[in-house]
Amino acid sequence: MKKISVIYWSGTGNTEQMAEAIAAGAALEGISVNLISVDKASKEDVLKSDAVALGCSAMGNEVLEEGEMEPFVTSLEGENLSSIPLALFGSYDWGDGQWMKDWAERMEDGGATLLEEGLIIQNAPDQEGLDLCRKLGAKLAATIR
Ligand SMILES: Cc1cc2nc3c(=O)[nH]c(=O)nc-3n(C[C@H](O)[C@H](O)[C@H](O)COP(=O)(O)O)c2cc1C
Repeated sequence: MKKISVIYWSGTGNTEQMAEAIAAGAALEGISVNLISVDKASKEDVLKSDAVALGCSAMGNEVLEEGEMEPFVTSLEGENLSSIPLALFGSYDWGDGQWMKDWAERMEDGGATLLEEGLIIQNAPDQEGLDLCRKLGAKLAATIR
C-alpha cells in the first residue's frame, strides 16, 4: 500500500486541524496515511513515503517555528526529494503569508516537487478551510495512485 506522511508543528492547534483534514482527505483515496507531530517524526518518515505534506504555522517574524520545525526542514535539505510529491500548509494570523512563500522557495531550490502553492489559512480553519485541506489531501493522494 502506498504511504503518505503528514508531518506538522502547531502551537495552538490550528495547523494541527489542517493536518487532520489533509490526512482525512488523503485517506479517502484508500492510501495509508501517517499523521505525525514533528517532534515524533524522523527524516525517514519523509524519505520512506510516496508523498508528503509538511505543515507549520507562521512564527517569529514570518519564519518556521525554530525549535522543532526549522531543524527538521534543515535536515531534509541535501536529501533528494524530487520523486516525492510534497504539499506545504500552515496557519497564520497578521502577516501576508511570506513565511510560506519563503518555505516553498526553499524546498523548490532544494529540488523538491511542490504539488501547488502552500495552503495557508488565517487562524483556525472554518468549514471552507477544512474543505480546502481535505481537497489538498485527496490531490496529494491522487498523484501517487
Ligand atoms: C510567537 C508567535 C509568532 C507569530 N508570528 C507570526 C507571523 O510572523 N506572521 C503571522 O502571520 N502570524 C504569526 N503568528 C500567528 C500564528 O501564526 C497564528 O496564531 C496561527 O494560527 C497559529 O497556528 P498554530 O496553532 O498551528 O501554531 C505568530 C504567533 C506566535 C505565538
